[in-house]
Amino acid sequence: MHIFSEIGPMNAYLKRERSNLSTVGLVPTMGALHAGHVSLLQASKRENAITICSIYVNPTQFNDPADLEKYPRTLETDIQMLREAECNVVFCPDNSTMYSAVSQLKFDFGALDKILEGEFRPGHYSGVALVVSKLFNMVQPDRAYFGQKDFQQFRVISRLVEELKFDLSLVCAPIVREADGLAMSSRNMRLNAAERKRAVILYQNLKQTRDRLLQGDPFPQLRKTVASQCDQNNVKLEYLALADRETLTLLDDVADPSRAILLIAAQVGDVRLIDNLYLTENRN
Ligand code: PAF
Repeated sequence: MHIFSEIGPMNAYLKRERSNLSTVGLVPTMGALHAGHVSLLQASKRENAITICSIYVNPTQFNDPADLEKYPRTLETDIQMLREAECNVVFCPDNSTMYSAVSQLKFDFGALDKILEGEFRPGHYSGVALVVSKLFNMVQPDRAYFGQKDFQQFRVISRLVEELKFDLSLVCAPIVREADGLAMSSRNMRLNAAERKRAVILYQNLKQTRDRLLQGDPFPQLRKTVASQCDQNNVKLEYLALADRETLTLLDDVADPSRAILLIAAQVGDVRLIDNLYLTENRN
């Protein structure tokens, strides 16, 4: 496995590989890797000759400096996991490689980055779009892999690729869950034992809400039930939303279950978690 922290040597390596017509898959991460990331690497390995995993905790996507500081950093374990997953290349740049000057560049995706995560984390998707654009330009992958857990992020990046005409395909891989249903997340390692037990409420509520929506219960009433259940379990609900899974337009009722997605965000202790669930599994 090759480990690069500088762009030049990585580019020289990729140039050699591309001259053999090798395809390149990129798995962008912020480290603290878990089984969800490994599933992205496996997808990339199935579809490309070379898989690159980038590890970079991107400061411009954190609107809260305390959140940036507490974000888990486990580089040595990550590299070990990547070796075991037979990743070909790790790119772990530092801040001066990614941002040679304080960037003033901002992205605006209209309503798409103002709702849900965008409402609670202003500027977050501008920072994501900025760093992902840089990574796409540096690596020039044939395919890039992202997890469905960050569903709104996937929609934002799809728009970015479409508008800036990046010549690559995006892949959205299904959420990987713990045995009790909690979505795998780097942030889970910050939960203490009691918080870890309570955290499963996000998935439980998504499933209950999905089932009752499919039976015809009105969404506004279901949202109230979820808010009160979270309250009783000392979990601070930020949002439970129903949306169109293609456009992410927020909905009040389900016209077509095959187009609908439920999304949730909540604070368990001081750890902010997100999750989502399609109403039906048949993807269009
Ligand atoms: O999903 C993440 O881990 C990050 O938002 C990403 C895409 C690596 C950009 O920093």
